[in-house]
Amino acid sequence: MLFFMLQKFPNIKTVIINDANPTLIDTYRFIKASPEKLIELLRSYHHEYLSLQSQQAKTDFYLRERERYNSGNAGNLEKSALFILLNRTCFNGLYRENLRGKFNVPAGKYVNPMICDEDLIYADSELLNRFDVKITCGSYQIVSNIVDFSKTNFFYFDPPYRPLNTTSNFNTYTKDAFNDASQIALSLYCRALSANDGCYWMLSNSDCSAANPSDTFFENIYSGFNIQRVVASRMINSVASKRGAVTELLITNYAPNEKSMRATGTYNNITQAI
Ligand SMILES: C[S@@+](CC[C@H](N)C(=O)[O-])C[C@H]1O[C@@H](n2cnc3c(N)ncnc32)[C@H](O)[C@@H]1O
Repeated sequence: MLFFMLQKFPNIKTVIINDANPTLIDTYRFIKASPEKLIELLRSYHHEYLSLQSQQAKTDFYLRERERYNSGNAGNLEKSALFILLNRTCFNGLYRENLRGKFNVPAGKYVNPMICDEDLIYADSELLNRFDVKITCGSYQIVSNIVDFSKTNFFYFDPPYRPLNTTSNFNTYTKDAFNDASQIALSLYCRALSANDGCYWMLSNSDCSAANPSDTFFENIYSGFNIQRVVASRMINSVASKRGAVTELLITNYAPNEKSMRATGTYNNITQAI
């Protein structure tokens, strides 16, 4: 979302990206400040992975690097490179930590994964620098301390998705679960943002009532706002048959076809708070 907007709307003045995951945020910071250092490490992982002949050898390599990632012995740059390596070689590109904060996704099966996407990293780096994106780490509320509310602001929230049912309970990106109480707290934060003039927001989440019509959790907590259903192709699902098109919710505090909203280039500031 952030990179799409930076390419599409050159008039944006100030930009913030935030997440609670320190390694994800460090990775953005290295992409911005020293893409070449990250690429150097990724290139060596790429060559090593591709030189391995059997799936077992690739799995062993993956488990060794996952252990290194979790060990606490890797420096921040190495940990960010490992974050990308694991993302590209783990099962379905998932990110999940156990209760002790250890990344625990099993190995994926890939012949030629793109571990070092040099062109993409340089293109992202250029955008992060062109807009001098502020990259912050913490819970989403911290962005309120930095945002200039006297200007026109657009916020996008991409929180952990609420499970559709008891078996699809993947939303544990980090050891601190994002449960229903967290979803409600976020909705109250969004309501409070709406009280500021020129403050627009959009939030995406799972479409729980499509899966279970009596589950109107989001319709209740975002009552009074615009709720659209959009077809999204889900790549991240452990069940291959559920990886196709599903509907997701796109919730906004403005009418989706409001004329002024289409001219998104008029925003002064944008913030991706999660
Ligand atoms: C659906 S993912 C979005 C990832 C992100 N948009 C990206 O691709 O860079 C949900 C994210 O919410 C983050 N998260 C969980 N609780 C949070 C909180 N209280 N404040 C900010 N981010 C949080 C997780 O670390 C995870 O990266």
